[in-house]
Amino acid sequence: MLALHAHRYYVLDDPQIPDAEYDRLFQELQAIEAAHPELLTADSPTQRVIGQVLPGLRPVRHAVPMLSIDTETDTTPEGARKFDARVRSALKLDEAAPSVEYAAELKFDGLAMNLRYESGVLVLAATRGDGETGEDVTQNIRTIGQIPLRLIGVDAPVLEVRGEVYMRRDHFERLNDQQREKGEKTYVNPRNTAAGAVRQLDPAATATRPLSFFAYGLGEVQGWEVPATHAGILDAFAAMGLPVSADRAVVQGAEGLIEFHVAMGAKRDALPFDIDGVVYKVDSRALQQQLGFKTREPRWAVAHKYPAQEQMTVVRDIDIQVGRTGKLTPVAKLEPVFVGGTTVSNATLHNEDATRRKDVRIGDTVIVRRAGDVIPEVVGVVLDRRPADVGEPLDLYKRLGGKCPICGSAIAREEGEVDWRCSGGLFCPAQRKQAILHFAQRRALDVEGLGDKLVDQLVDAGVIRTLPDLFKLGLASLNALDRMGDKSAQNLLANLEKSKRTTLARFLYGLGIRHVGETTAKDLARHFGALDRLMDASLEHLLDVPDVGPIVASSVRTFFDQPHNREVVEQLRAAGVSWGESDGAPEASAPKPLAGKVVVLTGTLPTLSRDQAKDLLEAAGAKVTGSVSKKTDWVVAGAEAGSKLDKARELGIAVLGEDELLALLAAPG
Ligand code: IVH
Repeated sequence: MLALHAHRYYVLDDPQIPDAEYDRLFQELQAIEAAHPELLTADSPTQRVIGQVLPGLRPVRHAVPMLSIDTETDTTPEGARKFDARVRSALKLDEAAPSVEYAAELKFDGLAMNLRYESGVLVLAATRGDGETGEDVTQNIRTIGQIPLRLIGVDAPVLEVRGEVYMRRDHFERLNDQQREKGEKTYVNPRNTAAGAVRQLDPAATATRPLSFFAYGLGEVQGWEVPATHAGILDAFAAMGLPVSADRAVVQGAEGLIEFHVAMGAKRDALPFDIDGVVYKVDSRALQQQLGFKTREPRWAVAHKYPAQEQMTVVRDIDIQVGRTGKLTPVAKLEPVFVGGTTVSNATLHNEDATRRKDVRIGDTVIVRRAGDVIPEVVGVVLDRRPADVGEPLDLYKRLGGKCPICGSAIAREEGEVDWRCSGGLFCPAQRKQAILHFAQRRALDVEGLGDKLVDQLVDAGVIRTLPDLFKLGLASLNALDRMGDKSAQNLLANLEKSKRTTLARFLYGLGIRHVGETTAKDLARHFGALDRLMDASLEHLLDVPDVGPIVASSVRTFFDQPHNREVVEQLRAAGVSWGESDGAPEASAPKPLAGKVVVLTGTLPTLSRDQAKDLLEAAGAKVTGSVSKKTDWVVAGAEAGSKLDKARELGIAVLGEDELLALLAAPG
């Protein structure tokens, strides 16, 4: 079993179980063999360094064997102390002796590579293979832009540089995006993708996969004076034009190692590539020689691991959750598993397409990833472990009978979109808080003092269920809330009262109809003039509105087709929310002195806020845009105006101050 996984991992670059699971099995086997030596066989995976030469790539014997390194799986600071204690005892240092100096660096999660430079020129690149013999991958390695084909300032007959070829996480995601676009299989993780790319038989195939490299050690050397410390070697590498990670340090003793372990652990998720630990090396080469080797590993180095970010577990069920915006997300309910430092029992499957593409089903064994604060996700299925009674592929519509699991409204998926959504909008409890906050925000009804904490409290206490409930609030229910004094309760009620007098555009925007932003709300209000005309408008009629296309039109139609939504609108009107409506056909327009003008605002104006200036300009018929172009008529600039002002000057566009703007607005059209 273990041998099979080892073969998949090292030889085929296509593991079926996470590394942590392999490590666990390996350690289990080691423990069994230690307890029952009679069971130990010569071909046990514990008895050799695994990795074979692939048929097709030329075998290369390493001039100096490529060793492996001891792994400290105790991820606590104790792991570093144990290593320091082993080193000190091997060097016969007593407690009074000064602390040992270590070079601390990252443990990159890729594959080891030996780069052979002769007279400064790259002549051979070989994988580690079994440590004695690797594979010639020179052609492929030449496609990696980061690897110099000639070293700077080196003419030594032989200089072998060892390091790790890896794939950055963003490059990996981009590659998978491309695979999805092509409808091809996505890759499971950056490490295996990098390993697979390096061992391609066709260098052109390698070149399409973005690889990177970090140097961390030496192989054979002839005619080059090796620096006295490991840190010195890395500095020399950097000077030769080789990529060396900047996240390295020379530290003193166990405490220095621990500090590095903690610091890099905190930084781990912000790094653009995966690491599975840090590596400590005795810095002095003289001491390294004194310490020497065990069978395969140097005594002067250790890899100190971090908790694994991927683990294997079983999917018990697949739930569909409704988000604050009505988005329906399939979530795998898992057999709890310890991953990335916490116990995880839910992992997102993102959407129906992703679930089907990965073919995740109830009963499957899956690999779960949790990196830092990112929500845990299911990376893939371990198909080998699929039970005979596994569930059906996910059909979200069928699973839900076409209805939102929270409010029972119809669910819908727009063309070209991956997400199913609940159409309940204002009515759906899952969307309640979001809907209320949106309605109350400054650019909608503008209820001052109704922020997210208060909305949380009001909804959680069951005081507010739908938008109209806002206007039923009384002093008693507000005073009952935590931290709500009499004064602030009264202020809120006054603000609510004030907010009732609004505009049709603000009201429409506040309803939170999908795809109806502020500008579209204004367009709709201007075109229809009255809410009832808009609510009853046919699709064709909606499409008559300038700047309204089929997506917006159908979203407006769907919204007002839901009886719940109409009810909310009626109740809001009954509560006294009102605006001026034009009763004839389209709103009769007030004089618009700036009609057709395109204006950009930048910097801080002396008295007007950005929103006030925008409202004034729009009321006068101008269009306010975000970036300066040849179409811009004026740029209104205040203090600390930046690149937009430069751009205006460059294009010769008129720049106005606040006074000039106010003068323009006051001028008769
Ligand atoms: S030094 C004699 N340094 O981890 C020491 N290895 O088993 C040889 N690795 O195969 C390795 N980052 O692929 C070293 N900073 C680092 C490393 C590193 C990753 C890998 C390497 C090696 C394995 C250790």
